[in-house]
Amino acid sequence: MAYSETKVVIGGLAHIPIIIGFFYLIRRQYSFGAMLRTGKNALSEKVKASPSKASAPKKAPAASKTAAPAKAAAAKTAAPAKAAASKKPHADVPVNTYKPKAPFTGTVTENYSALKEGAIGKVQHITFDLSGGDPEFKYVEGQSCGILAAGEDAKGKPHRPRLYSIASTRYGDNFAGNTLSLCVRQLQYEKDGETINGVCSTYLCNLSPGDKVKISGPVGKEMLLPEEEDSNIIMLATGTGIAPMRAYLRRMFEPTEIEKHQWNFKGKAWLFMGAPKTANLLYDADFEHYKSKFPDNLRYTKAISREQKNTKGGRMYIQDRVLEHAEEIFNMIENPKTHIYLCGLKGMEPGIDDAMTTAAAAKGLDWSELRPILRKAGRWHAETY
Ligand code: FAD
Ligand code: A2P
Repeated sequence: MAYSETKVVIGGLAHIPIIIGFFYLIRRQYSFGAMLRTGKNALSEKVKASPSKASAPKKAPAASKTAAPAKAAAAKTAAPAKAAASKKPHADVPVNTYKPKAPFTGTVTENYSALKEGAIGKVQHITFDLSGGDPEFKYVEGQSCGILAAGEDAKGKPHRPRLYSIASTRYGDNFAGNTLSLCVRQLQYEKDGETINGVCSTYLCNLSPGDKVKISGPVGKEMLLPEEEDSNIIMLATGTGIAPMRAYLRRMFEPTEIEKHQWNFKGKAWLFMGAPKTANLLYDADFEHYKSKFPDNLRYTKAISREQKNTKGGRMYIQDRVLEHAEEIFNMIENPKTHIYLCGLKGMEPGIDDAMTTAAAAKGLDWSELRPILRKAGRWHAETY
């Protein structure tokens, strides 16, 4: 087939924007991959260098166009993750020491309300004595346990276990290393004009000191803290999702904890906590105390949904707070030592995703690509229910 000279020239010129676009995408993904590995804040330097890009949130590039470079970036960040996997971080963390079929029997030592006067609902802080186990029931911060409520279900079978995040550090609230604490909201809802009480949460909330309880576990490695003392920890919690965060914060800032272990947190921790009312803010006084003692290491931002309004006049949720602090959060995320933990209501995940999408777009990043990269690098930890 014969081509005229003009057609060939026009055809060649038509490829130039495609080639430029291709190189732009590779460069962008490369700088992000490099940033994740090295911690060098290449992106914010770039954003600062071109203020027009930094100011207005710009639409994120379509995922399909950048899928291949994103995969490349993910593969790059996965490589160190693989190398690290060979060292098996958290390899000695105990899992399933006690299975639901052969649970441990713990004894309740304390069960008190975690709420203040005027709060909505019922949330209890419950502690169990774990001593006497053979093998010992050991766990670390960020794990969960199973609880087998006494009694039987409608079919006459034992109740299936329900999972609860452990709210204490491995040393326990008494620092003796032989207790485990939970933070439990009693599930209550209305059906056909009747109040239905959740089986296991009601059982737990009504326990008294001395009661024997079947406990399985511990389970889970999703929410474990990194071993590096200079990690940065961003925590996003709603309601009882605060349980693992309480354990992290005690490990980081509770004086007797610090004396007990050889892990001296030197990074930045930032807790975003969502609660319906001030009286529902769980462990608030402890966190305020830590903040006053360690102002350079701990930030504490509250979203009190039924007392505060977001910019649109709706209920203030933690995703609204995330948006308010988007720039700082993403500056932290650009540091490979930063981990993000999300725990609480399942319903908050889409809201957090939307907020992160907007926040990332303001930095010229695509959250739908970034999140799997962070996850693969073991820096995005989520447990919602
Ligand atoms: P159930 O008797 O099992 O009733 C729950 C069922 O009721 C639901 O499956 C649904 O079918 C129905 N239902 C619920 N709400 C409604 C409604 N509004 N309308 C109609 N039907 C409804 N909980 C905590 O309090 N603290 C924690 O730290 C905690 N950590 C968890 C960690 C993990 C990893 C997981 C998976 C869950 C966690 N949970 C936690 C939730 C906990 O496991 C239980 O699901 C919760 O306590 C309810 O159990 P229940 O036996 O009381 O309710
Ligand atoms: P609200 O119930 O006012 O709508 P608790 O478990 O103590 O009820 O706290 C859960 C907190 O999470 C409440 O402030 C609740 O607000 C808030 N919340 C409810 N739905 C969402 C959501 N989709 N995203 C973020 N926060 C939410």
